[in-house]
Amino acid sequence: MSSDQWQLQSYMKERIQLIDLALDRYLPGAETLPTVLHDAMRYSVFAGGKRIRPILMLAACEAVGGEVKNVMPAACAIEMIHSYSLVHDDLPAMDDDDLRRGNATNHKVYGEATAILAGDGLLTEAFILLSNPDTWGDAPADKYCEVLHILAKSAGSRGMVGGQVVDMEAEAKPVDLPTLEYIHTHKTGALILAAIEIGALLGGASEQQHRALCRYGEAAGLAFQVADDILDIVADPSQLGKDIGSDQQRGKATYPALLGLAGARQRASELRELAFSSLDIFGDSARPLREIASYIVNRSC
Ligand code: IPE
Ligand code: IPE
Ligand code: MG
Ligand code: MG
Ligand code: MG
Repeated sequence: MSSDQWQLQSYMKERIQLIDLALDRYLPGAETLPTVLHDAMRYSVFAGGKRIRPILMLAACEAVGGEVKNVMPAACAIEMIHSYSLVHDDLPAMDDDDLRRGNATNHKVYGEATAILAGDGLLTEAFILLSNPDTWGDAPADKYCEVLHILAKSAGSRGMVGGQVVDMEAEAKPVDLPTLEYIHTHKTGALILAAIEIGALLGGASEQQHRALCRYGEAAGLAFQVADDILDIVADPSQLGKDIGSDQQRGKATYPALLGLAGARQRASELRELAFSSLDIFGDSARPLREIASYIVNRSC
């Protein structure tokens, strides 16, 4: 392993530890009533997970000279929303998956009703956290209004949820490239772009930096889902932490299904290059973002 890879690995490991500590602090304890619900919420959040959205948010903030502590509540909020989206994505009414983050899916452990409510609880908890002025630090209220707006829009019917519904509608049907791109930029890209945009905003980005980081976020967000589609075919399930082959089984609209494996890999590389070039105006402060763009495309889980 090259020293560069080692550095990214240790950087991510250290960030995951910080994020997990903060998530533990912000989420209601498992002893809080109703205990079964809080237990279910915590089960999915702490089942593992790469924490790529909060890591990207912290990295975007630091790329423009901001401080990690100012962005940690928003980083935790986005991970809560992402975790909720996974709990609902795995339900029998959606992808009907049994394995997530190397563990049984939420509904397999707690039942469908509690899994639905645990997802609802996590989504709402994100906004409880970020609408509490105690978590704003020195940031003015209007900045936090903007953060809340970006987060809500990216999670809602014009963002992630919108992508999920078109993903479901497209099952077992022929899909063209613009529809596939719509699905991926919404179901996955929207939250990743929001992570970058919020990091930029709370870090104090200039307009030029904000534009550049948004271009990065768009490319990285789409690349992330293209890579996810590829991993559903080629990954080692014991590393991936979820079952492989489920996209093909359900007739999902994916890049490999439309462009073939080689075409999907080519598209992922193009997006990585686009993400790289978006960062041209930055120096060393954007090194983590550059390395994460490569990781997104080359990861094995
Ligand atoms: C899985 O997301 C769902 C997608 C949006 C592709 P991640 O691959 O980030 O899952 P975790 O958080 O690491 O489990
Ligand atoms: C999931 O896409 C996107 C969201 C959860 C919003 P997938 O259905 O491809 O994610 P995995 O493969 O189950 O993680
Ligand atoms: Mg899905
Ligand atoms: Mg799924
Ligand atoms: Mg997938």
